[in-house]
Amino acid sequence: MTSKEIRQQFLDFFKSKGHRIVPSSPVVPFDDPTLLFTNAGMNQFKDVFLGTGKRDYKRAVNTQKCIRVSGKHNDLEEVGHDTYHHTFFEMLGNWSFGDYYKPEVIEWAWELLTEVWKLPKERLWVTVFRTDDEAFEFWKTKTDINPKHILRFDEKDNFWEMGETGPCGPCSEIHINLGNDFENPKYVNAGLPECIEIWNLVFIQYNRDENGILTELPAKHVDTGMGFERVCAILQKKNSNYDTDIFTPLIDEISKLSNIKYDKDLSRQGREEDKIPMRVIADHARALTFAIADGAVPGNEGRGYVLRRILRRAARYGRKLNLHKPFIYKLVDILVKTMGDVFPEIKDKQEFVEKVIKAEEENFNATLDRGIELFGEVVSLKIRQLLEDKYKPHFNVGWAKIFLESVPDYLISIKKNPSHKTIQLTVPIDKFKLSQWSKELRDKLLGHEPKISGKDIFKLYDTYGFPIDLINIMAREMWFIIDEEGFDKLMEEQKQRGREARKEITMTSTILSSVSLEIVPKINTEFTGYDELKSEAKIIWHEKENGNELIVLDKTPFYVEAGGQIDDLGYIILETIPLNVIDVTKIDNKTVHIIENTKKKSVSTGKKVLAQVDERRRWDIMRNHTATHFFHSALRKILGTHVHQAGSYVGPDRLRFDFTHFSKVEESELKEIETLVNEELRQNYELQHHRNIPFDEAKKMGALMFFGDKYGDKVNVVQFGEFTKEFCGGTHIYNSSQIGLFKIISESSISSGVRRIEAVTGSGVERFIQSQFEQMKSSEEKIAELLEDKKKLEKELSELKFEEKKGQISSVLNNPSEINGIKIYKAQVTAENNDELKSLGDELRSKTKSSVGVLFSVIDGKVGIVCVVTDDLIKEKNLSAGKIVGELAKLVGGGGGGRPHLATAGGKEITKIQFALNKTEEIIKSFLNH
Ligand code: ALA
Repeated sequence: MTSKEIRQQFLDFFKSKGHRIVPSSPVVPFDDPTLLFTNAGMNQFKDVFLGTGKRDYKRAVNTQKCIRVSGKHNDLEEVGHDTYHHTFFEMLGNWSFGDYYKPEVIEWAWELLTEVWKLPKERLWVTVFRTDDEAFEFWKTKTDINPKHILRFDEKDNFWEMGETGPCGPCSEIHINLGNDFENPKYVNAGLPECIEIWNLVFIQYNRDENGILTELPAKHVDTGMGFERVCAILQKKNSNYDTDIFTPLIDEISKLSNIKYDKDLSRQGREEDKIPMRVIADHARALTFAIADGAVPGNEGRGYVLRRILRRAARYGRKLNLHKPFIYKLVDILVKTMGDVFPEIKDKQEFVEKVIKAEEENFNATLDRGIELFGEVVSLKIRQLLEDKYKPHFNVGWAKIFLESVPDYLISIKKNPSHKTIQLTVPIDKFKLSQWSKELRDKLLGHEPKISGKDIFKLYDTYGFPIDLINIMAREMWFIIDEEGFDKLMEEQKQRGREARKEITMTSTILSSVSLEIVPKINTEFTGYDELKSEAKIIWHEKENGNELIVLDKTPFYVEAGGQIDDLGYIILETIPLNVIDVTKIDNKTVHIIENTKKKSVSTGKKVLAQVDERRRWDIMRNHTATHFFHSALRKILGTHVHQAGSYVGPDRLRFDFTHFSKVEESELKEIETLVNEELRQNYELQHHRNIPFDEAKKMGALMFFGDKYGDKVNVVQFGEFTKEFCGGTHIYNSSQIGLFKIISESSISSGVRRIEAVTGSGVERFIQSQFEQMKSSEEKIAELLEDKKKLEKELSELKFEEKKGQISSVLNNPSEINGIKIYKAQVTAENNDELKSLGDELRSKTKSSVGVLFSVIDGKVGIVCVVTDDLIKEKNLSAGKIVGELAKLVGGGGGGRPHLATAGGKEITKIQFALNKTEEIIKSFLNH
């Protein structure tokens, strides 16, 4: 039976018992701040159990994507080392919401397992909660299980809780013993692979609150969860979940990529040390793919850091298989092919998921090898140091002989000095092979578990990005332990340094450090700042602090930083004197105004004041805040719904928005987003401010919310038309056109998969345009200057070049020919243009006496000629440059003439230049004979 058929049979079985098949909720629980990841099928029904939510069905069945890597349910350590725990798995479940209860669910569970799937009854065991006689009885009467196979366990095994808080109740588990000794009860709940739990039937009756108190729920419910991968292994008769058709395509691909065989048959020589990495990688690739497809991204905190840890762990296991280039992302395609029809989200987001994983791999690869190397050095050095410390003091020759026999020489070498009285012990670190270090050697030589220091761990963590749990795995592989306390201390010190660095910006915290909260009255400040920026109020508490005054009012329009929107500033007017509000903060739902009392006004409780927010500043903030919502919506429309807010700053000057998106946002996309935002802003949407509405109602409205956000029961939703609807506690303008204009000013990356865009609105755009305009003007001036400079330089350059060309004349001067005592200088030279050629002629003429000079040059693909004749020859011999050049020009297919002392001409046939040069003397002679 294929895994697909097994999944379908489960769903169909309960459908036939009146259950509605419902989809899996995302593995990232957006609406439950108590959870990092969905850890059970019942998560999406938590509100139904608590009585705060309703569904239009009373029985449900599904397969739920789960990740168990943190909090109450955490299987990370077991993954890969055994064959039946996973970070990501599917949980098959069925539910009754105040409908059927223990007898039905017990009967049906037995029916599915033993009649539909025909599992051997004699191998099945069930457990019930210590005091749950009811469940015990129903197992006895509603099924034909061997009564000896019904066992009682206490809270640890048979009382199920979702987390520290939430719905819970006694449960009854079904285990299967596939070993030889299957009639022996001792295997149940013993944590052994031959006897594992396959299905948990929970009877939800209570809610546990923050104080750990259990209260009875209004109705009783059933919540079950079956390990899909385990059941597939059993039905497909495999020893390991990794040998089912769920995992083999992944394992095969890893095998192919690494060129290492995963030996499925345990009786053959499958190398266990190769299997663990393959199993871990296959498992982690699933967790990463599903989590990222559902909107989580690797990062430095919370959920993101869990993903980063999982990925880095998989990457490092890859090194054990000699996989050095990014490879995890290649497994996404296999998952899409095998599971994309059941979970289409991974198909839809395939490209994005691959990109995120690949970039994270590349990122870690940059330090991974060096980190592994450093780790090897740390371990080697530590072993050497421990050996030296331990053995040096009582080292003598006789002892050394015995010692040497039991220790491999790569570990310790011994040098005798000439006197043979002393010896030197060293651990040859270069020869030291970590691969030869074993648990046996450790026990023999050291007799204890050596520790990796906090400092070394911190370096691996801080410089090389090794998560602490990964370092722990690596240490365990070397039979080391880690000094976690030492590491925590260094982490704390680093955090402290960070805090100190940030001190200057948080003056509020210093000011407030001495406020004793108990004396602040129990009245909460009413926030009036959604509707007005000026409020008449009463002082209900005050205290002096460092020359400032701290004041709490019964109501205030001052907004205190939250959700990215920064604090309001302004005045508190006390008896007509405005006192500057330089900061505000919240303590326990009370807004504390920090006021500069330079006027030394007497402040006392009960006095009436006018609290007045700096209006202009606040309007700029509101414009930016509302624009952030429009921008967010436009981003999701144009880039895709994988875009989630990852942080924001909303101030009077600008807005900054960080969001998940893989690649750079292209210029064309930015333009499109900007245009869409501006078009929508011009729609004159009125603000629809839904205040204090129940969380569920807001969710039903389809309002956007974000992970990381924590919401109370009542929330605010900010809506403008149908374009944007978001959970938000901030303050907003009343009509979208009040924003004026929205302009993006920068786009950058802040970490892998997270982009940052900065933008301005309203007067910010005005300032932006002005500054752009000024820049443009000053640029224009600069350009004019540059052009001027360019001209100058070009002139200088051509002068320089001409100087160089004049050098040609000296070689022309070297070998004149002679007719009747007249010297003839002739040559082909290089000249840019006719002026240059003329100047060269002048130069030649000035350097010679009783001579004729003829220069040819190729100018723009044509022939240029200059002829010069000295004054004496003009007078005495009646020679004329104009005439000579005219004759020469004819020879190159052209014409020209000029004055007697200098004349130029042109021609077309550059191939005739040499011929004309050769004829020069002849032509001059012909003029002499006249
Ligand atoms: N919610 C129960 C579990 O996760 C079924 O085991």
